[in-house]
Amino acid sequence: MQILQGKKILLGISGGIAAYKTPELVRRLKDKGADVRVVMTEGAKAFITPLTLQAVSANAVSDSLLDTQAELAMGHIELAKWADFILIAPATADIMAKIAAGLANDLLTTLCLATAAPIAIAPAMNQQMWHNSATQNNFNTLSTWGYTFFGPGTGEQACGDVGLGRMLDVDELVDLTCQKISTFDNNEPNTLTEQPLKGQKWLITAGPTREAIDPVRYISNHSSGKMGFAIASAAQQLGADVTIISGPVSITTPSHCRKVSIISATDMHQQAMDLAPEANIFVACAAVADYRIDNIASEKIKKSHNTMQLNLIKNPDIVADIAALSNKPFTVGFAAETQDVEHYARGKLARKNLDMIAANNVASAGQGFNSDNNALTVFTTDDEKVLPLASKSELAKQLVLHIQQKFENSLKS
Ligand code: C5P
Repeated sequence: MQILQGKKILLGISGGIAAYKTPELVRRLKDKGADVRVVMTEGAKAFITPLTLQAVSANAVSDSLLDTQAELAMGHIELAKWADFILIAPATADIMAKIAAGLANDLLTTLCLATAAPIAIAPAMNQQMWHNSATQNNFNTLSTWGYTFFGPGTGEQACGDVGLGRMLDVDELVDLTCQKISTFDNNEPNTLTEQPLKGQKWLITAGPTREAIDPVRYISNHSSGKMGFAIASAAQQLGADVTIISGPVSITTPSHCRKVSIISATDMHQQAMDLAPEANIFVACAAVADYRIDNIASEKIKKSHNTMQLNLIKNPDIVADIAALSNKPFTVGFAAETQDVEHYARGKLARKNLDMIAANNVASAGQGFNSDNNALTVFTTDDEKVLPLASKSELAKQLVLHIQQKFENSLKS
């Protein structure tokens, strides 16, 4: 049987140049067995014609909320109920902003409010527009509400800029759609309505630590905290009681999560050891500095010498110390590697006595530190699962569900 056999997919097209790829997207989804209906915004029709999409989808294209004939044929509520899955591709900064504001002033935004189906958004915009705080805020809001993000990808853009904001390729969008749809065929919860983590306490470390050299200087790293906060947000949406122990970050704490702010690895260690006995699940996502300064100078160090030496001592290994507790929570570590990922990740899993380790290759472009996207391979002692490149919020959701499944198995054994 074809993977999308019998699935009703509503493709929302907004007004970006990547709209030229949508006839191919419709065809590829139909090749996999899906029934596809297309909804276009006014802007989309400036890039591609409804006639083209009607021809490839073999269904009437809807583009108006207030068209009496269209409402008679299939009204907006009927269309919203018809869909098993809504994919908005390309999604402009404008459509993201409208949905995040709860507007319903055209057919596509109305459908987003009126549907119970999961919605995936494939952003497509200039890299500066993607990085703009307004767009990032809308991205965070929509992720928190349970919208899934497919991309954006990185690379050369129609305007000549290079960076994050490209719509993913048609093949990637089709693969992600198949994966997403198979997750609800496998009875994975609809995160908007189900709370399988209710009653669980999750403790998550996130962000960098800072190791003071003197009152004005420190040693740190590039961690943004995005992955840890995305995991916190996903676990909270699925019903968990979530505490984040975070180093200094500039991102917003996900709603309904408790945040304990720390600066140094020693502070993070102290907080984690205090809070872990209460937790069911501990996820060590922080990029903890391996070493700290032995003697922090009490006054600003003067540059009076041509060379200077700092004496460093090893920081406690927080995740290993939690995993060594007699009443340890289910403990998940991360491994950011630049080479030989499986070998090093499995080594850490064993050495630190972890229940699970999520490994990413930080040398790959467009993922890892400071990026909005990531890809993980998750190892336990007896298996491994690949979570392919996706936005950190989408990836976090998949990781949280995988942790939950392994945690439940561990309770049974
Ligand atoms: O040994 P490495 O630093 O590569 O291990 C990474 C994992 O260990 C991450 O989960 C990180 O949060 C955790 N870690 C820790 N305390 C340290 C160093 C790493 O909890 N001092």
